[in-house]
Amino acid sequence: MKSRKIEIAPSILSADFRALEREVKAVQDAGADRIHCDIMDGHFAPNLSFGPIVIEAVKKSVSIPLDVHLMISNPEKYIANYCDAGADILTVHAETCSSLENVIDEIRGRGVRAGVTVNPDKPLDLIFDYIDKVDQVLIMSVYAGFSGQKFIPEMTDRIKKIGDEISERGLSTDLQVDGGINDKTATVCAGFGANVFVAGSYVFGAQDYRERIEALRNAAEKSIARN
Ligand code: DX5
Ligand code: ZN
Repeated sequence: MKSRKIEIAPSILSADFRALEREVKAVQDAGADRIHCDIMDGHFAPNLSFGPIVIEAVKKSVSIPLDVHLMISNPEKYIANYCDAGADILTVHAETCSSLENVIDEIRGRGVRAGVTVNPDKPLDLIFDYIDKVDQVLIMSVYAGFSGQKFIPEMTDRIKKIGDEISERGLSTDLQVDGGINDKTATVCAGFGANVFVAGSYVFGAQDYRERIEALRNAAEKSIARN
């Protein structure tokens, strides 16, 4: 498999929002490659989180890329807001888009990397044909909505399917996994081709962020070396 850079993306959904600036600086200093920002609207996702104002604040606090995961209805309406607020990568759920192609074009047209995903109960076919048209494919290993959920083991079939396609076609598309990621699940996912690991509770739930970020990176690197 063509080797893509392993990246660790702590999700601020599990951070202490009383001290968000300190939290994002701390994970950056601890070696994080991106900050994962979960946007939820209480419609598409059964939870509410935050919007562009928080993205702007995080953007002012760190220099690593902001990886924004949109879990909202009608994302078309808000793409400009999130790009302007400072998203470096913007991932949308295919099941929320009336034209995924137009959404991808708009994101990339604004100079932002585009990602696509679907919830675990939606067909992978909704995004499969876009592997070479986007910068990132995200496999959801939990349902969009909350941190701290258990990794759904069946989602490894999806990781393998996309990972094999990326590898066979020599693409540089990032393969990201999100939900229930720890050193053990990261090992499994990396073995099937994932290279970007989102982790909320595993990183922010620990005392030592560096130790957790390194544990994820080491787990992924070792797993890839074995394959
Ligand atoms: C779930 C979010 C995830 C969440 C991950 O809707 O997309 O990014 O924060 O949290 P953990 O790593 O705790 O499963
Ligand atoms: Zn997410």
